[in-house]
Amino acid sequence: MARALADPGTLLSTTHEVDGGLRVRLRLARPSDALRMRQFFDGLSDETRHRRFFVAMPEISETFVRHFTFFDPRERLVVVAAAMIGHSEEIVGVADVALLETAVAELGVVVDDARQGVGVGKLLTEAIATLAIRQGATHLRARLLEGDGRMVALMRRIGHTMLTLTDGGSVAVTRLPSPRRQAA
Ligand SMILES: CC(C)(COP(=O)(O)OP(=O)(O)OC[C@H]1O[C@@H](n2cnc3c(N)ncnc32)[C@H](O)[C@@H]1OP(=O)(O)O)[C@@H](O)C(=O)NCCC(=O)NCCS
Repeated sequence: MARALADPGTLLSTTHEVDGGLRVRLRLARPSDALRMRQFFDGLSDETRHRRFFVAMPEISETFVRHFTFFDPRERLVVVAAAMIGHSEEIVGVADVALLETAVAELGVVVDDARQGVGVGKLLTEAIATLAIRQGATHLRARLLEGDGRMVALMRRIGHTMLTLTDGGSVAVTRLPSPRRQAA
């Protein structure tokens, strides 16, 4: 059921405690995240990479890391979920959105295997949706492997979601709430 979304400023300035007690901060990715970003993607299982990128082992090249750490916010946004693990900050989830001219924003989300199912994806999806609304997007679209119930559940929390089956997968399109329905 669609509901009012929090303001992006609120989501990005607050520390969120997810199930199990991990404290997660959401923020835009930055160039100085290069090493953390590489470690995050290197640490994902083949299954998780496949679900996100549709191939088991995309090469974690410099270009790949750069894609997630440098972006023009008028065209693309990357939000990380970061947590202090021991004394260092680690990335535990990454959401990116490409803002297309059609007011459709193309979404990708991935959470570290060990942290899936505790609410990190929910936080990231909500943050990216609120930012996409701010940039004028009216719909969020995600390419999914067929039967990806978790991602569809997360998109349905944001707004009315239509699922279309494609060759070997599906495409989910969510209607974003209008900006005035965002909570202060
Ligand atoms: C999909 C993904 C991003 C979700 O992130 P997450 O942190 O694991 O998700 P959360 O814990 O925030 O929430 C998952 C929601 O799905 C629900 N869920 C879990 N398994 C489900 C299933 N099989 N069917 C339907 N809903 C399911 C959970 O109940 C939860 O909803 P709730 O909190 O309202 O109960 C994460 O699992 C992931 O990285 N998967 C691999 C990459 C991927 O598939 N990306 C999507 C393509 S872009």
